Amino acid sequence: MRFLDKIALITGGAQGIGLAVAQAFAQEGATVIIWDVQHEKAQEVVANIEKQGGKAFTQKGVDITSLASTELFAKEIHEKYGKIDIIVNNAGIVRDASFLKMTEEQWHQVINVNLTGTFNCTKAVIPYMTAQNYGRIINISSVSGLFGNFGQTNYVAAKAGVSAMVKVWGKELGKFNVTANAIAPGPIATDMLATVPNEVLTQMQMRVPVRRLGEGKDIANAVLFLADEKSGFVTGQTLCVDGGFTLGG
Ligand SMILES: NC(=O)c1ccc[n+]([C@@H]2O[C@H](COP(=O)([O-])OP(=O)(O)OC[C@H]3O[C@@H](n4cnc5c(N)ncnc54)[C@H](O)[C@@H]3O)[C@@H](O)[C@H]2O)c1
Repeated sequence: MRFLDKIALITGGAQGIGLAVAQAFAQEGATVIIWDVQHEKAQEVVANIEKQGGKAFTQKGVDITSLASTELFAKEIHEKYGKIDIIVNNAGIVRDASFLKMTEEQWHQVINVNLTGTFNCTKAVIPYMTAQNYGRIINISSVSGLFGNFGQTNYVAAKAGVSAMVKVWGKELGKFNVTANAIAPGPIATDMLATVPNEVLTQMQMRVPVRRLGEGKDIANAVLFLADEKSGFVTGQTLCVDGGFTLGG
């Protein structure tokens, strides 16, 4: 088991990619903590992990858009387990609209959760990581953040931001044995794609060289690689996990 005795905090772990990440860590022996606005769903995930012999926990009421809230809940984790080794900043939302139609509210909603949320959650755990001289930070970005996408000014700005932040954290935190990397998923079959019309999904699939949409476990696999103790020489990077979607041609 690669993550025995590791404490891994995953935001947005109640469904989709975050759920796959939570399950993958639990299967490898980590204690998983889930922060998600869907508390009942998160509780079901915890119950399923425990049923399979894993260790998991969820905290009700954490607001990732508030630093005071993330600090309070991170302190509780630290009091309970004595350390926090891994954070996966995965919680994310979309509020798509063309730039001409995008409202200020849509802009702020996406920036608050996807960008400020990543800042707040990492800020809340980093004192523990630097003190214990060990940490793995993984931000879930998006290929949209690297290449742009119609209707996603807010989302693209946030995702470009979470990829950019790991370059700073890589530089600043390396001396504490803390690495920071991002993963940019291509199209992954989760609820986030539920609003995309079927014909667009089929077209997307045809543009993926491996000829399928991704699954949560494709991303989980890459997250576990970056979170591994053995990956300590990889930092400040954004890894595209997209079946070749962004290769062009
Ligand atoms: N699905 C894709 O094609 C795709 C592609 C690229 C990047 N991503 C990114 O991957 C991540 C996960 O996406 P997904 O497809 O699993 O989406 P999803 O909508 O299925 O799951 C997102 C999870 O985040 C939670 N969440 C939302 N707002 C939150 C908040 N304020 N606090 C705590 N939790 C919150 C939701 O309750 C949900 O459980 C997101 O950051 C998304 O931007 C997804």
